[in-house]
Amino acid sequence: ERALRVAVLGCGTVGTEVVRLLTEQADDLTARTGARLEVVGIAVRDTTVPRADVVDTRLLTTDASGLVRGADLVVELMGGIEPARSLVLEAIEAGAGVVTANKALLAAHGPELYEAAEERGVDLYFEAAVAGAVPVVRGVRESFAGDHVRRVVGIVNGTTNFILDEMTSRGVGFGEALADAQALGYAEADPTADIDGHDAAAKIAILASLAFHTRVSIDDVPVEGIRYVTAADVEAATRGHHVIKLLAVAERRTTAAGEGISVRVHPALLPLEHPLAAVHGAYNAVVVDTEAAGRLMFYGQGAGGAPTASAVLGDVVAAGRNRVSGGRGPAESRYADLPLLGGEEVTTQF
Ligand code: NAP
Ligand code: HSE
Repeated sequence: ERALRVAVLGCGTVGTEVVRLLTEQADDLTARTGARLEVVGIAVRDTTVPRADVVDTRLLTTDASGLVRGADLVVELMGGIEPARSLVLEAIEAGAGVVTANKALLAAHGPELYEAAEERGVDLYFEAAVAGAVPVVRGVRESFAGDHVRRVVGIVNGTTNFILDEMTSRGVGFGEALADAQALGYAEADPTADIDGHDAAAKIAILASLAFHTRVSIDDVPVEGIRYVTAADVEAATRGHHVIKLLAVAERRTTAAGEGISVRVHPALLPLEHPLAAVHGAYNAVVVDTEAAGRLMFYGQGAGGAPTASAVLGDVVAAGRNRVSGGRGPAESRYADLPLLGGEEVTTQF
């Protein structure tokens, strides 16, 4: 039986659930992949921290770089920019397929990583980086590759949606709702990335790059988070039959100067009958408008260990199958350098 050596980098909220699925579903995964997925090590910062029972502590190591060498597939679930960036590049250089959930890394250094993977002819999959379990990356990257995307607008941060929802439906204070979101494993290691909109900005930069076949970095995205949304704002919205949602938007706009795109993240007032108004808790939803397909909505659990692990494993199986067949997953398609438009071009109606 063929085996693929899988290196897992990170064993936190997501990594633990990925290890659980790799262990508990091992036979099914072998059948679907065409090779046994053998976890050869799990990189962490501290090997003495107590771990879930499913984690074989003999596999833990602090030598992530050593682990990457010799792996067929590297699953990066550490988060942050460094050492994740260097490790992903090392993995690609070594000819391994890479799966990552790291939107911060992709939104800041995507082009460098895509180019390295392209040059080396290896896979770089990242479904879990946007909207957790919701297959919106695959949708935008592959399903509409022959269509013309006009607009992508969504709720792509579970933590802030959870907080706003708790404030709206149960009258819970901001701080308490954030603590609950952290306890449930929705928030980033540094939750200011969620609250101030930077996590959503990273995700919409990734989606905009895929939807418009161009390159949008997190630095291109004007951001306003929910830090200054008060209980009084929430009450006023409710009285007016609206709800406050943190929206991430990427849209084509035609101006006197020609075609460009506007990408941004900000709180918005949505009427209760809007489909995005019905997205509760840590769920995410992304509405995509295209020329031929019309309007589609992707919806599901956007954060949390198990839902995110589902997306990671989908990518692991895809990358594993490619490894077995000698094929490759989708490469970056880039042909347009669409100028980014300024704030004066924004749409206010959703
Ligand atoms: P987490 O709970 O903070 O876990 C991070 C893990 O990485 C920990 O096991 C940590 O080791 C390890 N790690 C961090 N820095 C390291 C280093 N320098 N060397 C070795 N190991 C290191 O994070 P998470 O919530 O699982 O998120 C992981 C990634 O998934 C992030 O990119 C995040 O944005 C993304 N993501 C998260 C979610 C979610 O709902 N949580 C959803 C989608 C995507 P120790 O255990 O020893 O500290
Ligand atoms: N912190 C992120 C969120 C995790 O709340 O949406 C999922 O990417």
